Amino acid sequence: MKIVIGISGASGAIYAKQLLDVLAKTPHEISLVISENAHLIAKEELGFAYTQYDRPIFGSRDFSAPFASGSAKYDQLVVIPCSMGTFGRIAHGFSDDLLTRTADVFLKEKRKIVLVPRETPWSLIHIENARLLTLAGAVVLPAIPSFYSKPKTIEEAVDTVIARVLDHMGIENRLRERWGSV
Ligand SMILES: Cc1cc2nc3c(=O)[nH]c(=O)nc-3n(C[C@H](O)[C@H](O)[C@H](O)COP(=O)(O)O)c2cc1C
Repeated sequence: MKIVIGISGASGAIYAKQLLDVLAKTPHEISLVISENAHLIAKEELGFAYTQYDRPIFGSRDFSAPFASGSAKYDQLVVIPCSMGTFGRIAHGFSDDLLTRTADVFLKEKRKIVLVPRETPWSLIHIENARLLTLAGAVVLPAIPSFYSKPKTIEEAVDTVIARVLDHMGIENRLRERWGSV
């Protein structure tokens, strides 16, 4: 599959990192779109730079990226973590940077979009935007870990979310025990 991973400036860079670590072991073609704040937050939270992945990183203003046009054949967009700013801009069709333009294209082309917002609590604006995005065809998958697999580390808790993201992407994974499988 040809997959675009968008990373925006919400807390939770570890969600992006752990998804990219899994995807690095798959044959899927991955392109990255990373906001300015997402770079800063990765540095702040993880002391980490996304440039370590051997994947093309497209600039926020690079509207010539192939997936910015519906005519280029891409399969999926995952935005992880998704700030409420990016969430709202996607919900309302703002295409003022590469990530929101890509989301706009994928929604109109009825392609798979998974959005992983990280914010709490949610205002009515966030809730209404989630409703709109769901109606438009996106999967809204908040970064909310589960605990029935008894995660012992932050990484294991994060993997409970990544496993659900991968499930929605149609990518086989055994990151965490599934409920009912033991
Ligand atoms: C350290 C830090 C943590 C942040 N955490 C969040 C967050 O968890 N959720 C969120 O919606 N915005 C968060 N923000 C605010 C966004 O970064 C800000 O709204 C930004 O404009 C989002 O732009 P982007 O979506 O293009 O990255 C955070 C900002 C900083 C500096």
